[in-house]
Amino acid sequence: MWHTSRSFFRTMRRGSMSRQILVTSALPYANGPIHLGHLVEYIQTDIWVRFQRLRGNRCIYVCADDAHGTPIMLKARELGITPEELIERIGREHQQDFADFLIEFDNYYSTHSEENRYYAELIYQRLRDAGHITSRTIKQAYDPVENMFLPDRYIKGDCPRCGAAEQYGDSCEVCGATYTPAELRNAVSVVSGATPVDKESEHYFFRLQDFGDMLRTWAGDGHVQGEVANKLNEWFEDGLREWDISRDSPYFGFRIPGTEDKYFYVWLDAPIGYMASFSNWCEQHGEDFDAWWRPDTDTELYHFIGKDIVYFHALFWPAMLEGAGFRKPTRICAHGFLTVNGQKMSKSRGTFIMGRTYLNHLNPEYLRYYLAAKMGSSVHDLDLSLDDFIQRVNSDLVGKLVNIASRSASFINKRFDGRLADHLEAPELYRTVTARGEQIARHYEDREFSRAIREIMALADEANQYFDERKPWVLAKDAETLERVQLICTQTLNVFRVLMTYLKPVVPRIAARAEAFLQIPEQTWSDATEPLLDHTIGRFEPLATRVARESVDAMLEESRETLAPKAETTPTGPLADNPIAEQIEIGDFGKVDLRIARISKAAQVDGADKLLQLTLDLGGETRTVFAGIRAAYEPADLEGKLTVMVANLKPRKMRFGVSEGMVLAAGPGGKDLFILEPDNGAEPGMKVK
Ligand code: MSP
Ligand code: ZN
Repeated sequence: MWHTSRSFFRTMRRGSMSRQILVTSALPYANGPIHLGHLVEYIQTDIWVRFQRLRGNRCIYVCADDAHGTPIMLKARELGITPEELIERIGREHQQDFADFLIEFDNYYSTHSEENRYYAELIYQRLRDAGHITSRTIKQAYDPVENMFLPDRYIKGDCPRCGAAEQYGDSCEVCGATYTPAELRNAVSVVSGATPVDKESEHYFFRLQDFGDMLRTWAGDGHVQGEVANKLNEWFEDGLREWDISRDSPYFGFRIPGTEDKYFYVWLDAPIGYMASFSNWCEQHGEDFDAWWRPDTDTELYHFIGKDIVYFHALFWPAMLEGAGFRKPTRICAHGFLTVNGQKMSKSRGTFIMGRTYLNHLNPEYLRYYLAAKMGSSVHDLDLSLDDFIQRVNSDLVGKLVNIASRSASFINKRFDGRLADHLEAPELYRTVTARGEQIARHYEDREFSRAIREIMALADEANQYFDERKPWVLAKDAETLERVQLICTQTLNVFRVLMTYLKPVVPRIAARAEAFLQIPEQTWSDATEPLLDHTIGRFEPLATRVARESVDAMLEESRETLAPKAETTPTGPLADNPIAEQIEIGDFGKVDLRIARISKAAQVDGADKLLQLTLDLGGETRTVFAGIRAAYEPADLEGKLTVMVANLKPRKMRFGVSEGMVLAAGPGGKDLFILEPDNGAEPGMKVK
């Protein structure tokens, strides 16, 4: 195939010079926390980047928060802060989460930046000057109360086909019909509840169809996975259409040059955010931005994304770049979605797990290891099965790999003063391990991480087997055979050292600890070829401990607690995001002891901005309950009010204390949650029927 040979020649021309690779992950929206689904992507990218560096390539990894758009504007409004304050706050949280998962960006920036404004305007102007932008007046749903145009997702009503209530303005989740908001019956604005009206306004469009031929060639040229190329072909057959790139005020974003009140649609400036973040990095490092972005550059550009955003990255983005005279991506690497225990992440099952919640209970490298052990280069979804997670971390990472080091090091430390022998007892075993290096490297390069891990673990098996067969613990008892113990352990520690280097992209912290205990400098891939002999190692410190099931359970428990009604940003009907649970028998319901309680005290909980600590008077008995109703009530307003509580719920240990029951409140959530008013004849302790 031609494209393969072309890149082959380029590699030849560059000779042994290292590659220069710019890598990005998709920019997370600045309106919510990082969850484990996101982490599939950032961990995948980070492993690939670390691998490239370990191989001696120059690899720059940039990212940013995606800060613009209607949801961010509305969320800030709801919190009573400016969008700038919101994106500042969320940006900080995101960066802390990433750092704690050992995701190492060269630069983390924001799309709400001067560099991004500059490149967004530049690209827009170049596209406009080349005739790729048109404008015309269109009719759209408008909220007459809030005075804003409504994106489809902010309109709800009854499905025009099946009549299901509470459906979004673009499609029905019940019957699958797709339609325009105008076809929806009894439509209401999710923002104000008002009935939307049609209103005209002028919009700007990017003529994607001008780039049809270029995109077809590009997509067939090895820049996307085969599965993605097939999808693109379907889109080509459907025909490429112009893309609406403008939004009317009020909008949080960049104003379009030459207009008074039109803004770039968030998805126009989002991918340009890759350039902005890189440009900001160039500024700090004296690097030439254009050398990486001009059409004939020798540098490579890799975008890691989820399969849901392929349309933007494999159609609009290369077309925008081409039209504005920039280089196009070398490769779009799309991945599938994360499921937990075989199902879509679910708040009620406690499997909608935030990165921070995971970190409160578990070691970040376990997730990195587990995901790597399951990750391939396809767009298939990926399952985090928690039983399998415990099993693989414990039996492979700890039981096989770390075990080689701990059992060998204890002999070397105790019996040989930390000194390794001066030759290998089984050089062929060492050669087997180093000879696999290139194959393992190919797997990393191709994003076939699970294959790389499988090879590494098979070699760890060989090392353990070698150790077991020679029984050093028996040989150590006899002065005559003691010397062999040093040889055996030198051999296994040498295998361990190489395998740890291969695994370094996945578990960088464990690898750094291993380097420290072996008293060797930071290893690179090629260091594996020379064995470590006649060398003194340090005291072995446990490199990783087993995962306790209790920690996983506690993480699920805490995730369930964040279920507490939260302020919604994306509008969702009560039943869409939150379907009615499985049916129960009347007997089950009878077990629930509901009682009237008076809230005698309500207080904020340090470190939990959604919770209130309630002291409840049950007419003689007092209970402490943590309730997720902070968004709806000021503590002082609750004191003296009545509520209904589940009085026989097993006490649950939460991070902040023991919760001895649960209060019931009704309403759509957020600010609108209702607890009973006093003086309606109810008395604390009364049974609710
Ligand atoms: N802001 C856009 C991306 C703009 S890129 C110029 C966006 N943000 S996102 O926060 O919704 O998602 C960020 C990345 O995380 C996307 O690549 C998305 O596919 C990925 N994931 C979000 N949820 C995911 C799972 N449950 N599983 C795997 N990846 C997921 O899209
Ligand atoms: Zn329907």
